[in-house]
Amino acid sequence: MASFTVLEHPLGSALLTRLRDRSTGPAEYRALTRRLGLLLVAEATRDLETETEMVRTPLEPFDGSRLVRGLVAIPVLRAGLGLLDAVVDLYPDAVVGYLGMERDEVTHEPRDYYAKLPPLAGRRALVVDPMLATGGSGSAAVRYVKEAGADDIVFLCIVAAPEGLERMRRDHPDVPIVAAALDRQLNDQAYILPGLGDFGDRLYGTER
Ligand code: PRP
Ligand code: URA
Repeated sequence: MASFTVLEHPLGSALLTRLRDRSTGPAEYRALTRRLGLLLVAEATRDLETETEMVRTPLEPFDGSRLVRGLVAIPVLRAGLGLLDAVVDLYPDAVVGYLGMERDEVTHEPRDYYAKLPPLAGRRALVVDPMLATGGSGSAAVRYVKEAGADDIVFLCIVAAPEGLERMRRDHPDVPIVAAALDRQLNDQAYILPGLGDFGDRLYGTER
């Protein structure tokens, strides 16, 4: 079974607290998401393979390192877009694919409405979606990415629910997951408790 990692970092906890706070508006939400995303992306790439690259400092030669495999960032639209800048900030050469998934409000099943993926072989695919609730969207997104040829996938989210984690572990036991928090449970509308509400709506100011 691949790893499940919860970010244990005081800066991450403080950022997530601001995201949970109902009084945080969209402008701050976007900035907080990007900052927390930097910590999560660093964690999700901790084990990336490197090879030696020799450089010369002004004083002497130095055996440095460079990445063997590049990164593909795959945000799950729309909320996942909030995490894209974090990937690109840390690894500007990242290529980007998009998956559009929307959860049905009644059945809570995901509907995919868009997909555009670059070549995936030989790269680590970071599938980024802030919320892992029932796990339906995350599982479908990872399935899509596997079918498109990815052989090295990490799923990155901000808040995971036990139900979503279980679903991902069942459907994709080979895919590591990195989250900023594992929350308590889902409510009867499949929202995460304590959670932070509807991430996409809060990110884009579309709450009703
Ligand atoms: C949210 C979130 C995930 C999904 C998680 O997206 O960004 O994609 O719900 O729920 P699940 O684990 O039960 O599938 P949503 O469908 O609200 O779409 P949006 O990003 O367009 O707001
Ligand atoms: N999607 C969200 O944005 N929030 C939840 O709590 C569950 C699904």
